[in-house]
Amino acid sequence: MTIANHGARHVAIIMDGNGRWAKKRLLPRVAGHKAGVEAVRTIVRAAGDLGIEAMTLYAFSSENWKRPEEEVSDLMGLMKRFILSDLDEFAANDVKLKVIGNWRALAPDVVKLIDNALERTSGNKRTTLAVALNYGAQDELVRAATAAAAAGPITEETIAAHLDTADMPPLDLLIRTSGEVRLSNFLLWQSAYAELYFTDTLWPDFKPADLKAALDQFARRDRRYGGL
Ligand code: IPE
Ligand code: IPE
Ligand code: MG
Repeated sequence: MTIANHGARHVAIIMDGNGRWAKKRLLPRVAGHKAGVEAVRTIVRAAGDLGIEAMTLYAFSSENWKRPEEEVSDLMGLMKRFILSDLDEFAANDVKLKVIGNWRALAPDVVKLIDNALERTSGNKRTTLAVALNYGAQDELVRAATAAAAAGPITEETIAAHLDTADMPPLDLLIRTSGEVRLSNFLLWQSAYAELYFTDTLWPDFKPADLKAALDQFARRDRRYGGL
């Protein structure tokens, strides 16, 4: 069933708070990341049912390399397992996978896995799931501006056309969980006129009802784009 009356075509989420979720339970941080992957599964399914065309999820930032080596390796391991185990489900639910960020610089086995997953889901149409991996918006803008300049004059349109999200609908709603109120280098260009939604809920606790609440609030917002 599709109920898209909220009007949001593209929703992005800064999935934050896995570490604090684990800490509250006296568990290691990796347990929070595992619970975070479960939340991703549930939310991706809900997004399709709620009539969202595209969802962009911040999974690993270009600054997250500053974390201890063990945590980085846990996150990469979880990412690989998620792609492998959920490929069939993407196929079944008509989910097209996309990866944004400098993911080609990741380990060769991860790159190969991603390449394969992109190819296998390329014909899917219902929902696009863009995973931001080794993503930083400033890095994306440098890459986009460089590519735009090589192709001709730099304008707002040519930069936008070279962003990692160029083939996605405009960003409507940007959600951040865990109570932090900042963008942490996520979708800086795309969020120029996106509606922002901050919730104290930690990412592993974020449920379809929370997504629904964000969409309900979005539907009540007055987007003026500088006009009246
Ligand atoms: C978000 O949770 C997941 C990633 C950044 C990969 P965190 O790991 O940042 O959790 P907190 O912010 O420490 O609670
Ligand atoms: C942003 O969360 C990155 C992801 C959710 C992948 P962080 O936890 O890394 O952000 P900061 O460090 O609190 O700004
Ligand atoms: Mg965090």
